[in-house]
Amino acid sequence: MNQPSPKRRGRFITLEGGEGAGKSTQVEGLKRFLEDQGIALVTTREPGGTPVAEAIRGLLLSRDHPAMHPDTELLLMFAARAEHLRTLILPALEAGRWVLCDRFTDATYAYQGGGRGVDPARIAALEVWVQGPVRPDLTLLLDMDVKTGLARARGRSEADRFEQEAVEFFERVREAYLERARSEPARYRIIDASRSVEAVAGDLQQAVSSLMGTGQGT
Ligand code: TMP
Repeated sequence: MNQPSPKRRGRFITLEGGEGAGKSTQVEGLKRFLEDQGIALVTTREPGGTPVAEAIRGLLLSRDHPAMHPDTELLLMFAARAEHLRTLILPALEAGRWVLCDRFTDATYAYQGGGRGVDPARIAALEVWVQGPVRPDLTLLLDMDVKTGLARARGRSEADRFEQEAVEFFERVREAYLERARSEPARYRIIDASRSVEAVAGDLQQAVSSLMGTGQGT
């Protein structure tokens, strides 16, 4: 098998956003909500999610390599994704479980494309190469002001390699996310993440509810 199988039965949901948008907190809340609805769910993250992909994450986020070439960064993101998709995400979906993933390929378009300036056509080529026809069923974009998000993220732990970037980098990331969301309104929900945890959680629950009882994934 060279390309991932499209025989999916579970739903594939991704959560995206800039630094400090509250993704980790919301993943936990959404997991409880979906499990309460009787849905068998796997939560995971990118880059990472499996031992090999987590090792690649260590390399990507380490401040020991501040000068990594953007192409290397891009290929490492997709190397981690290939492992994650084949050994964790697809087996779960094929077994009928739902997968809630903290970041996926939209992050590559936003960070490597928008942030680093990599040509989106190169990202699209790798997307097809690694994922074949597999795309998320629903992508929840937690959007908020860049400076507020960065202050939150930087206040809670030591900055990783990405968090050290300048504000302008994250402004480009945000714009790239919003542009993708606007161009694919059927898959995306843009959620104002500057509000309370409860208000954001309510919107996320409403968005995922639209996937319930609507037949099987493709
Ligand atoms: P996290 O902070 O949400 O765990 O994500 C780790 C960092 O990796 C974050 O700064 C965004 C970055 N990233 C990319 O640059 N490209 C990608 O494709 C993914 C999945 C993450």
